[in-house]
Amino acid sequence: MFAQLSDTAELRPLEVWQAEEFAAHLDRAREHIRPWVGPSFVTVDVAGAKATLTRYAEGAARDGARIYGIWGAGVLVGGVMFVEFSAAAGTCEIGCWLEPGAEGKGLITAACRALLEWAFEVRGIHRAEWRCRADNGRSSAVAERLGMTFEGVLREAWRIGDTYYDKQVWALLNKDWAREALG
Ligand SMILES: CC(C)(COP(=O)(O)OP(=O)(O)OC[C@H]1O[C@@H](n2cnc3c(N)ncnc32)[C@H](O)[C@@H]1OP(=O)(O)O)[C@@H](O)C(=O)NCCC(=O)NCCS
Repeated sequence: MFAQLSDTAELRPLEVWQAEEFAAHLDRAREHIRPWVGPSFVTVDVAGAKATLTRYAEGAARDGARIYGIWGAGVLVGGVMFVEFSAAAGTCEIGCWLEPGAEGKGLITAACRALLEWAFEVRGIHRAEWRCRADNGRSSAVAERLGMTFEGVLREAWRIGDTYYDKQVWALLNKDWAREALG
């Protein structure tokens, strides 16, 4: 998937050969994203970055999870992913992250719209989910901006160390997307 997100930003597949670039980006993003994303995503070197991209490449080979980078003026500044993707079940889950300097520009909302368009209109997915820590206001704001419905809280479902955080579930159905597209 390729999409122009603004005059200077674009969405492109993020692949194993880009592990060094991904690792350099994670050096800028790591502490910013650490509290809010799965621990396996927060790697510390090129080998770790390559392992993440390999996991997603294997997912894509099975028509499952996939990852895409966002380049702003040629620099990798974040991305979006299908954390889960099942054409058979008709469901997917979208995730995202940015380095701090790329926040506040609408890049993630635009990138998620590109993923949703592909999922609903090309792949016929029925339900797209968004899961975030309940205290992650910037993340739930994206879900709301995308027109998702807040469906509830999974109590203490997000463990970091010895602390269990509540997790929100948001979702958009294909018919909601189609209705919004019609205006
Ligand atoms: C979650 C996260 C990706 C959201 O980033 P974000 O920049 O707030 O989201 P967007 O890229 O959609 O940008 C929206 C912001 O840009 C502004 N904006 C500017 N132009 C815009 C446009 N054309 N369209 C939409 N928003 C626009 C919005 O007003 C909003 O700013 P505000 O929050 O100050 O009101 C980011 O905070 C992050 O990386 N957090 C850490 C990792 C994380 O939480 N990941 C998600 C795990 S569930």
